[in-house]
Amino acid sequence: MKLHLLLLALACLIALVYGGTKNYYPSRFASESDSDSSDSSGSDSENPPWPQFDPSHVYKGWELPADELAFHEGKMKEAIELAISRNAVFASTIVNATSGETVCQSVNSIGKTKDMTMHGEMTVMQNCSSIYGLLDWTGFYIYTTGESCPMCQSAIMWNSFSKIIFGTNVTTLYCNMCLTQILVESAAINSMGYGLADWGEYVPAQIIGGIMSSVTDSMFINYCNEPNSPVRVTPNCSGSGNSHNKQRKRKSHK
Ligand SMILES: *[C@@H]1O[C@H](CO)[C@@H](O)[C@H](O)[C@H]1NC(C)=O
Ligand SMILES: *[C@@H]1O[C@H](CO)[C@@H](O)[C@H](O)[C@H]1NC(C)=O
Ligand SMILES: *[C@@H]1O[C@H](CO)[C@@H](O)[C@H](O)[C@H]1NC(C)=O
Ligand SMILES: *[C@@H]1O[C@H](CO)[C@@H](O)[C@H](O)[C@H]1NC(C)=O
Repeated sequence: MKLHLLLLALACLIALVYGGTKNYYPSRFASESDSDSSDSSGSDSENPPWPQFDPSHVYKGWELPADELAFHEGKMKEAIELAISRNAVFASTIVNATSGETVCQSVNSIGKTKDMTMHGEMTVMQNCSSIYGLLDWTGFYIYTTGESCPMCQSAIMWNSFSKIIFGTNVTTLYCNMCLTQILVESAAINSMGYGLADWGEYVPAQIIGGIMSSVTDSMFINYCNEPNSPVRVTPNCSGSGNSHNKQRKRKSHK
């Protein structure tokens, strides 16, 4: 009898702790007011039950709740350690945001596969899809030490990831590291997902950038000093005409 009560109490506690996860869409970090206050029959049709993020904005650490930032930093640290352990710089992981578990991890394997499309995000998504067979990764986050290129960003959108968290941005890779890049910031592609709408309910991913960038920025090789590297480019960053400079102006930061 006592055991029964104990088990019941335990079950209630577990339900209390994990109960929130069933409302969780797409973020376990959705503020209470976002998800719970609209419980009353969703009369406000203009406010869907999931948090709204500006898909064209790269959210920075200081814009996040402290617990969420700590979570992302911990996961980025994992990706950094993975990169180091595999003698790589571009590492990517996929995290089940409901359980907080890292479910897949991978690194750029262009050198190994002799396939230019094998960026870290591509290999981790291919790996994870082959294991779990999901066609919709809502409720999952993808981490990458370097901002996603248009190929990877697009693939992430086809997979409907909820959040994309990166360390070093494309501007740094191209302008400061002389690394070849397609000069489109991931947020520019991210804001073009409306064609993926399904019953009008496409939820764009939230992009969070610059997480642990003080570490990731120092991991990348500075190709400016490696004139013979095939991935080295002479960056043209002085003008204001290229796409990411334009986008930077649009947000008129600082
Ligand atoms: C994600 O986590 C939830 C909650 O623990 C679990 O029910 C689900 O099976 C997990 N999915 C994957 C693909 O890990
Ligand atoms: C893909 O996943 C498999 C199985 O977990 C792993 O052995 C392999 O290293 C992964 N591929 C890459 C490129 O990391
Ligand atoms: C890119 O990262 C650098 C260094 O981390 C930062 O100073 C810069 O503002 C970032 N650029 C953009 C466009 O976010
Ligand atoms: C550098 O970029 C500017 C636009 O920002 C462009 O007008 C110019 O032609 C580019 N120069 C080179 C050498 O590519």
